[in-house]
Amino acid sequence: LVLVLDFGGQYNQLIARRVRECGVYCEVKPYTTPLEELRAMAPIGIIFTGGPNSVYLDTAPHVDPEIFTWGVPILGICYGCQLMAHSLGGEVSPAQEDTAREYGKTVTYYDTTCPLFQGIPSEGISWMSHGDYMAQVPSGFSLTAHTKMCPNAAIADMQRGFYGVQYHPEVNHTEYGMEMIRNFLYSVCHANGDWTMHDFCQSAIAAIRKKVGSGKVLLALSGGVDSSVAAALLAEAVGNQLTCVFVDHGLLRLHEGDEVEAAFSKWNLHFRRVNAETRFLGKLTGVEEPEQKRKIVGEEFIRVFEEEAKKIGAVDFLAQGTIYPDVIESGTGEAATIKSHHNVGGLPDYVDFKEILEPLRMLFKDEVRQLGRELGLPEYLVSRQPFPGPGLAIRIIGDVTKEKADILRLADFIFRDELSKSREAQNLSQFFAVLTNTRSVGVMGDGRTYDHTLALRAVTTDDFMTADWARIPYDILDCISTRIVNEVPGVNRIVYDITSKPPATIEWE
Ligand code: XMP
Repeated sequence: LVLVLDFGGQYNQLIARRVRECGVYCEVKPYTTPLEELRAMAPIGIIFTGGPNSVYLDTAPHVDPEIFTWGVPILGICYGCQLMAHSLGGEVSPAQEDTAREYGKTVTYYDTTCPLFQGIPSEGISWMSHGDYMAQVPSGFSLTAHTKMCPNAAIADMQRGFYGVQYHPEVNHTEYGMEMIRNFLYSVCHANGDWTMHDFCQSAIAAIRKKVGSGKVLLALSGGVDSSVAAALLAEAVGNQLTCVFVDHGLLRLHEGDEVEAAFSKWNLHFRRVNAETRFLGKLTGVEEPEQKRKIVGEEFIRVFEEEAKKIGAVDFLAQGTIYPDVIESGTGEAATIKSHHNVGGLPDYVDFKEILEPLRMLFKDEVRQLGRELGLPEYLVSRQPFPGPGLAIRIIGDVTKEKADILRLADFIFRDELSKSREAQNLSQFFAVLTNTRSVGVMGDGRTYDHTLALRAVTTDDFMTADWARIPYDILDCISTRIVNEVPGVNRIVYDITSKPPATIEWE
């Protein structure tokens, strides 16, 4: 086990993720964790994370220097590096104007005889973000990397296995950062790198069993990847103490409700599917404003869930499929609300529970998918694209009716089906159909039609914050268009959305 000691930096979970990517098990612990507890974990290596503080201030987070006597290798990153220098007798001070205050991409020169830098080029870009400077490094340490501004971008005491870097090797902007982390883990800590998602799964199951004991667990299942994987993990761990409430709001894609239900049939859990289509459509009648639709579906979801929870009675744990990016996003209150996103996020008011259980809180999306596979969830569920909480309600422009939902469901299914068959789907990040509230005149057979215009949306993106419209080959689009107008009654015109985000968003509402 590698211990990541958290001093409050932005990238702590990213460090943990990099360690896992190297096939090494790790746990993130706050720096306030009692030393005995850390020692009992018997780490083979420790990583001190970055953090926003200045180590020379009284209020700065510290760790008992006894940790340096354990004979366990330590890698200090940014604040972690300064803390190590400060604790071992060096000197850290605020950077002067002309010395080493560095932010962003910085050309860095490495001493490749240092174990941390073995096998990498002697020059590369690193990502810096520090206003303090190591004026003096502790005795026993040598300088192993420098930049134009700063003679000590990295320090090492190879004898004791202590390494410190001013920059962030865990972020993508740092060239060879992953190699450096791997070097620390393999060459310095002698990790063997054989840890897998299977191991994660086993230890997560054991941890859930320990925590839950004989308690009752309740989970709201939306059918999305995160809540499905959380449900599967809990089902595997404490199946017969778990109740999953799957609220089918009637605004899911074709066959989706049945697929979700089928995916859980192999576990012995209490699965309650609530078919609430009529109720949701009733609430949405005549509502055209997108934000209002979102709010209605979000609130109604919670109300339905609460009603089911009341029938079940008091539970010990309310489980949620929160994943790490949700933890970060909800922590930043700065950004303007473009759309109010709804997942199963908001906490229901009237559910009687003692504690929240969030077994995926430390994982990134692709790790969640990997875990889902490990648990034997079907691929269509695990590799599912993002699907908004309000479902088709925000892909039907204008007021929502059952007739429109049925039209959209079928058209959307054909779009997805053709993209999968032609293998074009693998080039795309997200794709779906939108039912516009435009009708236009057409001709079918010998008759006039006056039917719906359907829009197709397909994008490529890394992070869904920005996106480009996908250049789907014309012959595939042609095939999709022909199939939809032939097979979906009520649609006589297809348009393809060629707007990037920004200025548009991915969804239409
Ligand atoms: P936009 O439309 O804002 O969407 O460009 C960005 C991504 O978020 C998805 N999306 C949602 N996801 N709840 C969600 O979980 C929501 O309410 C929601 N609205 C949009 C959207 O599908 C895209 O992937």
